[in-house]
Amino acid sequence: WMLFEDDIAAILRLKQERNAVILAHNYQTPEIFHGVADIVGDSLALARKAIGVDADVIVLAGVHFMAETAKLLNPDKTVLIPDMGAGCSLADSITSDDIMGLRAAHPGVPVVTYVNTSAAVKAASDICCTSGNALQVVESLGVPRVLMLPDEYLARNIASQTQVELITWHGYCEVHERFTPGEVRGFRDAYPGVTILGHPECPPEVIAETDYSGSTAGMSEFVARQRPERVLLLTECSMSDNVAIHHPETEFIRPCNLCPHMKRISLSNIRQALEENRHEVTVDPAIAAPARRAVERMLAV
Ligand code: 13P
Ligand code: SF4
Repeated sequence: WMLFEDDIAAILRLKQERNAVILAHNYQTPEIFHGVADIVGDSLALARKAIGVDADVIVLAGVHFMAETAKLLNPDKTVLIPDMGAGCSLADSITSDDIMGLRAAHPGVPVVTYVNTSAAVKAASDICCTSGNALQVVESLGVPRVLMLPDEYLARNIASQTQVELITWHGYCEVHERFTPGEVRGFRDAYPGVTILGHPECPPEVIAETDYSGSTAGMSEFVARQRPERVLLLTECSMSDNVAIHHPETEFIRPCNLCPHMKRISLSNIRQALEENRHEVTVDPAIAAPARRAVERMLAV
């Protein structure tokens, strides 16, 4: 922790000077998550809590689509991301032209897009969802068929819980698609009694081997509620580190896959972002209005 003291002290001072807040996703490293963040959570919580933030500047310690969402909900504030290269394989898997093509192929079928998409894709959608509210969003539409894009595995995991027919796309999270059912069975054999939680971006065959599946916030709440003796989270590496700090009585088994995009954010580039006012995230106003509508419709569900 001593290694981080200088940067943490500088960031805390800069936050005051610039009237800034730091929003950090659950996959940020503990020194960011526990050291400098003001608001932490899953994608849904970060979108919800971005509304009405009392600050001039929002620094998004997470990936680009999260910063865009924060900007959509705070058009008059400065939104900074410490590294513009912090992307997402899901957001890169689909364009607004793809959505237009899908609409033409499935006339009248509403489009639900995961928040892990660009603002342009959100603008071409009817409503957004996150892994924390996907089922509720799909069912809120009251229709028999929905286009649910772009995460095929999230859509298939949700399809197993609803009568609504979900038409999917071939997008994948490069972190969660790597887990395999054989690997999960191996953990059960190696760690007797372990409770296994998995993020719904994992393949359905992996989720079938778990005891619970939910968003990053869902997994965190599960551990707080159930207090398992031994737990394993099938998700990004920092998640266990951040949750384990609050649960010294629980043994965390920590296989994990790193998200290279989340890991582009560091204390030093957060500090630089505040010192140099970079990198500012903006959204074309023509895209911002319909994209905001899709996010706000989700938040109203
Ligand atoms: P949630 O935090 O919404 O579960 O999303 C996980 C994720 O992969 C975000 O990039
Ligand atoms: Fe995208 Fe997966 Fe990384 Fe989240 S963990 S930012 S979904 S690549």
